[in-house]
Amino acid sequence: MTFKAALYGWTATTLRTLDHHGVRLRYPYRDRIMFENAILPALARDESIQRVLLVGCGWYTHHYPALLGETEVTTIDLDAAKRPFGGDQHIVGNLTALGNHMPRACLDAVLCNGVLGWGLNEHDDVEQAFGACVDCLRPGGLLLLGWNDQPPYNRVAPEDIPAFARLEPVRVPGLDAHRIVALPRNQHCFQAFRKPLSD
Ligand SMILES: C[S@@+](CC[C@H](N)C(=O)[O-])C[C@H]1O[C@@H](n2cnc3c(N)ncnc32)[C@H](O)[C@@H]1O
Repeated sequence: MTFKAALYGWTATTLRTLDHHGVRLRYPYRDRIMFENAILPALARDESIQRVLLVGCGWYTHHYPALLGETEVTTIDLDAAKRPFGGDQHIVGNLTALGNHMPRACLDAVLCNGVLGWGLNEHDDVEQAFGACVDCLRPGGLLLLGWNDQPPYNRVAPEDIPAFARLEPVRVPGLDAHRIVALPRNQHCFQAFRKPLSD
């Protein structure tokens, strides 16, 4: 085991122990609060959303599957060391190869925050990754994108990704717009899309 994997494992165990005792370490920023207090609870309340893919893990996301309540959550991260921050069902792998891990049209929602521009950077990879997400969404399924609309993170913007042309804009769950700038200082946006009922 690498030092990084051991450190992340220890961190995840410590965070879970603290959570269990009611001590919740969270980022206090507006964008995180919006995601954790508005978007994820709205998805948890939505009975049409039973199976969710959460893309990208970190110490500050380990509790996200729990925030989704009864929803069946699969997490995915390219970095094997991040496994301890994932959910019970976790894929170590590249989002570009999502189709190797799950069948088409099996997901009600894909939540992809902080991955576009944060490792998923090259145009072809971005297209392959979101193409795979759209394939794995059921008709009517939701794709929630969180991204930073400022350099260098916005080198590939959603409007430049052909896979998004297969989706239609919808309101971000729990909020009142299709696109919200959740934190102006880093232009962190949430944007929501839906796979049409007839593809
Ligand atoms: C900045 S973190 C974002 C974590 C989390 N999704 C969030 O809400 O902030 C980016 C994570 O995405 C992962 N990642 C980057 N490119 C990826 C890809 N192509 N497939 C799967 N995971 C990827 C990285 O390993 C990293 O753990």
